[in-house]
Amino acid sequence: MRLSQLVCLAIGAATANAAYSGDIVQYWVEQASLLQNGTIIGGLQSPPWAWANAAVTGAILEAAVKSKKGSLAYQQLAVSHAAHNILNWAFHATRNYNAVDAALRSILPSIGLAANTTEGKEATAIGRKAAAKVAEARADDGLNDFVDFVYGPKNPTVYQQSPGANPYPDTPQARFVKPFAGLGNITRFRAPPPPKLTDKAYEDSVVEVKAIGSLNSTTRSAYDTDTAYIWRESSISVWNRIAHSVVGSSLATKVADSAKFYAQLNYALANAAIAAWDTKFFYVSWRPVTAIQRTDIWLPSHLNVSDPSWTPLLRPTPSHPDYVSTHSTFGGAASAVIRAWNGGDKVQATFSSNVTLDNRGVLTRTYTSLEEAAKENARSRVFGGIHFTFAGAAGIALGDAVALATLKEFDDHWDEF
Ligand SMILES: *[C@@H]1O[C@H](CO)[C@@H](O)[C@H](O)[C@H]1NC(C)=O
Ligand SMILES: *[C@@H]1O[C@H](CO)[C@@H](O)[C@H](O)[C@H]1NC(C)=O
Ligand SMILES: *[C@@H]1O[C@H](CO)[C@@H](O)[C@H](O)[C@H]1NC(C)=O
Ligand SMILES: *[C@@H]1O[C@H](CO)[C@@H](O)[C@H](O)[C@H]1NC(C)=O
Ligand SMILES: *[C@@H]1O[C@H](CO)[C@@H](O)[C@H](O)[C@H]1NC(C)=O
Ligand SMILES: *[C@@H]1O[C@H](CO)[C@@H](O)[C@H](O)[C@H]1NC(C)=O
Repeated sequence: MRLSQLVCLAIGAATANAAYSGDIVQYWVEQASLLQNGTIIGGLQSPPWAWANAAVTGAILEAAVKSKKGSLAYQQLAVSHAAHNILNWAFHATRNYNAVDAALRSILPSIGLAANTTEGKEATAIGRKAAAKVAEARADDGLNDFVDFVYGPKNPTVYQQSPGANPYPDTPQARFVKPFAGLGNITRFRAPPPPKLTDKAYEDSVVEVKAIGSLNSTTRSAYDTDTAYIWRESSISVWNRIAHSVVGSSLATKVADSAKFYAQLNYALANAAIAAWDTKFFYVSWRPVTAIQRTDIWLPSHLNVSDPSWTPLLRPTPSHPDYVSTHSTFGGAASAVIRAWNGGDKVQATFSSNVTLDNRGVLTRTYTSLEEAAKENARSRVFGGIHFTFAGAAGIALGDAVALATLKEFDDHWDEF
């Protein structure tokens, strides 16, 4: 027998009533990101990704509430089976069972509550039931519906397929998905209209993004190029990591509190995605690349911004309309929830991202203010050449409003999955 096995046995015997020493909810939120990143479909689009995280954290919260009277290990086991089952459900078509099982298998020894004990059986049943409850509530929530999309005329400001994008925009049905926590009709949050073509703000935004968002921009600093890169990956994954950085291990022994916080965060993100899609598919606004590559003069001032070979730094431009920026909406929503938990905007938050685009590698940034992080996140899309600046500001405001409403409803409606 190897030494490592002996050590494991010794620890196992000595700590039969112990539990996983980390925050079990953070463990599963992190597993959800890893699984999203690593699924054979290469990660979901933004609204389904946010939706899946909300389902996972909803099931976790249900299991945490139902197992609250048990030992820490009991709660952790209940939560783990809830997360495992709802992840399998969310990824049903992806043949991801082995990876989801591996995530559960690797945490079970740390939890240390045997599956064949009375307690173990009870906790497992609570977790499974929680997942089933969420799956049932979400069975017909609109996410699987076919909603057709027809491109508008190729006039200035009208959204068109951008180079390298999918033939049809991503998930047009996402605007009709049932919100989490009984938020009601999402259209009441719809962002005000973007600036008109005749507004100076419109022209300024076009000129700005053409200069600082171009692949080979001569006016964007190296730091700002990295800003575009570091924020590029899924906002759901990034903002859950930022939340982890702020919360640390402070909720490790308070499973229900941690579950509540992460459900608030991920419900707000999912609701923000639905609201962003409502706004996007209401205004159906074109992306910078479409505006700049257009060959005629279309600005009312007659300024010629045409450059048919203009290429944004972040490629391809995502396959959905410009206004509002989803990234910014997610940042507005997440920062509002973290701010509420934190009791203020001042934080010490660090996150890293392994940037695969242009082989940039691992970048790390630290923030002392959530507002600063949300603003930089929004700005990153202009540096990336994929959004007009007004799409960012409106996105933050939209996300903030949706998150505050989600928090307001949460205590009474958290189990309206
Ligand atoms: C429970 O399972 C363990 C192995 O995981 C086994 O050693 C033990 O005998 C089982 N106990 C019962 C009551 O079945
Ligand atoms: C939401 O409200 C809008 C505007 O009043 C209405 O057209 C729409 O049908 C409502 N949607 C739902 C799901 O109730
Ligand atoms: C940008 O610069 C790279 C070299 O750094 C060059 O290969 C590429 O053609 C340029 N792209 C555009 C759109 O100008
Ligand atoms: C506008 O600029 C583009 C690209 O430089 C050029 O091809 C086009 O001829 C210009 N249009 C007019 C009307 O000057
Ligand atoms: C997901 O993939 C991105 C790269 O696309 C990486 O930066 C990030 O760290 C990954 N997230 C997790 C949780 O593995
Ligand atoms: C970053 O991603 C690249 C490409 O997937 C990979 O080769 C590399 O090992 C990753 N680096 C780290 C530190 O994870």
